[in-house]
Amino acid sequence: MSYPYQIRSMEEYEKAYKDSISHPDKFWSSVAEHFRWKKKWNRVLEWNFKEPRVRWFDGAKLNITENCIDRHLEKLGDKPAIIWEPNNPEERVRVVTYNRLHKRVCQFAQVLKNNGVKKGDRVCIYMGMVPELAYAILGCARIGAIHSVIFGGFSAQSIADRLYDAEAEYIVTSDGAYRGGKDIPLKSVIDDALIGNRTVKKVIVYTRTRTPVSMLKGRDVWWEDEMEYAETQVEKEGIVSFPAEEMDAEDPLFILYTSGSTGKPKGVVHSSAGYMVWTTYSFVNVFQYNPGDIHFCTADIGWITGHSYIIYGPLSAGATSVMFEGIPTWPDAGRFWDIVDKHKVNILYTAPTAIRSLMGFGLGPLKGKDLSSLKILGTVGEPINEEAWHWYDENVGKKKCPVVDTWWQTETGGILISNLAGVTPARPSWATLPMPGVQPVLVDENGKEVTQKDEHGLLNGNLCIKAPWPSIIRTTYGDHDRCRQNYFAAYPNLYFTGDGAWKDDKGNFRITGRVDDVLNVSGHRIGTAEVENAINMHTGVVESAVVGYPHDVKGQGIYAYVVYGHIHGDEEMTRRDILQTVTRVIGAIAKPDKIQFVKGLPKTRSGKIMRRILRKIAEGETSNLGDTTALLDPGVVEEIKQGKL
Ligand code: WT7
Repeated sequence: MSYPYQIRSMEEYEKAYKDSISHPDKFWSSVAEHFRWKKKWNRVLEWNFKEPRVRWFDGAKLNITENCIDRHLEKLGDKPAIIWEPNNPEERVRVVTYNRLHKRVCQFAQVLKNNGVKKGDRVCIYMGMVPELAYAILGCARIGAIHSVIFGGFSAQSIADRLYDAEAEYIVTSDGAYRGGKDIPLKSVIDDALIGNRTVKKVIVYTRTRTPVSMLKGRDVWWEDEMEYAETQVEKEGIVSFPAEEMDAEDPLFILYTSGSTGKPKGVVHSSAGYMVWTTYSFVNVFQYNPGDIHFCTADIGWITGHSYIIYGPLSAGATSVMFEGIPTWPDAGRFWDIVDKHKVNILYTAPTAIRSLMGFGLGPLKGKDLSSLKILGTVGEPINEEAWHWYDENVGKKKCPVVDTWWQTETGGILISNLAGVTPARPSWATLPMPGVQPVLVDENGKEVTQKDEHGLLNGNLCIKAPWPSIIRTTYGDHDRCRQNYFAAYPNLYFTGDGAWKDDKGNFRITGRVDDVLNVSGHRIGTAEVENAINMHTGVVESAVVGYPHDVKGQGIYAYVVYGHIHGDEEMTRRDILQTVTRVIGAIAKPDKIQFVKGLPKTRSGKIMRRILRKIAEGETSNLGDTTALLDPGVVEEIKQGKL
């Protein structure tokens, strides 16, 4: 596979950028030509941000799995598509070639069909990081079912909410998952999630940990039995390739739930064609992928990073993608370096929080590890501080590997602002330049483009994007108006990201973080309202307010101010009970780092909580709290300051 659309120099980047803005139709059709279509498009792009309505490659027919698998078989059939590294380094590595991937995906598509799954049905996937997760995802795409992958750290309640919202009829899960020293009983969490559920008809259970599971007759089936049966059918009927469903360019490919500033997560919907083109294009350009390179993205496939840069982008480019079941610190903090050494990884893509956590272990775990295969390093998920950037550059990349700082979101489907490795300049803590086709703009609260530089000579504002790129969010599942309100209503004719940013004279962007009520904890997105709702469910809690504060490793920590009616036992026990409640309602990832019991919250006369003040106190600021005259009872601020943890 070669990539005629690969940008190889600064001049080529500048030209591509210019062309993509002045002649978007021509530009994107020349990229899209290099994919496999069942029928080509009638029109490249049609859009308005008012509804919003965005249609890329309208009229085209395709199946993304033919692009991720079939089109590579002739030349790359025996090449590894996925190299799977187990949680336990003693266990056997599994290498899935493109031929094998084709066989398994076809087989699993047949399993889905046998179980009644049809095009457009929603299939929820709740599994650990095993190759079967990739087969499940691609099997859905092959048959045209809409997958909704849920991260293994979410609770039964969170799953139940997502199943209900997506009206999911099928689930693919496994008995359990290994993560570091822990076994997570996934099927039992699913069983809890299904209490009272009225939509789910079938649960397909893959065996990974052989932990005891309950299997409900008529509803629950074993993955292995189903796959075996599908194989006999395939042999009998001589089916070697499950026919890839013909999808419209704009047919939904998947739903992925993400948090916003309201209490309820949103089901972000991505399309088939635009998502495919963008994940491939951005993968090849940002990481400067060359055929044969080994790409290792450390994210979990439960998040968008895993969807776009473990599965769809790399596979569509015919790349070799490493999939890691475990965690960076088990059996010890040298695990990433062992994997790089063992599999001769060329591209390493991870999160700043992982880098900061590994920094904490010093240089010991890097000793004796051969990292000379590395060519390119990447980061994603949150702003990277300069210290972590330099540590990564010096100790992992040995100052020989370009570092790409890739800014994007669940809603953007793929990377929008980033340097292109070794092609456009890197700058510590800066995501730098927009990708071709991406038109970022900074606006003030009134939606006016910021033109006045601040005291550092930079433009500073809310980050918006002017026009659609191919993998922009299409809708929020089941509620299109929610999509409009969330992303397209704050500023007319702009997509609002929820992030703040700076821009310098050369057009480089530095993302400063969320400007809405969304936290970014270890690169995971959590809405403060969601955490508050969970805390408020605990008996005795009158109300609560949740804010973020700077955390050395996690980037942001969660600080909860809780007004409590009656303490049951002592404060410490009550704290633990609240943490348990949050774990039940959302999952352990949303547990507050600090819980401070307070008598009241600072409110305006109209009853609005003044989070600005709470945020400052949580950050350790005590004197300069800004204007507090609007407060109903300024006394509560004093009390909160005294009790700060
Ligand atoms: C939010 C999106 C994109 C996949 C992982 C997170 C923050 C993401 C960067 C970066 C600074 C970043 C933003 C964004 N973010 N990448 N390189 N520099 N901030 O996806 O859960 O949808 O979160 O992550 O605040 O809005 P997500």
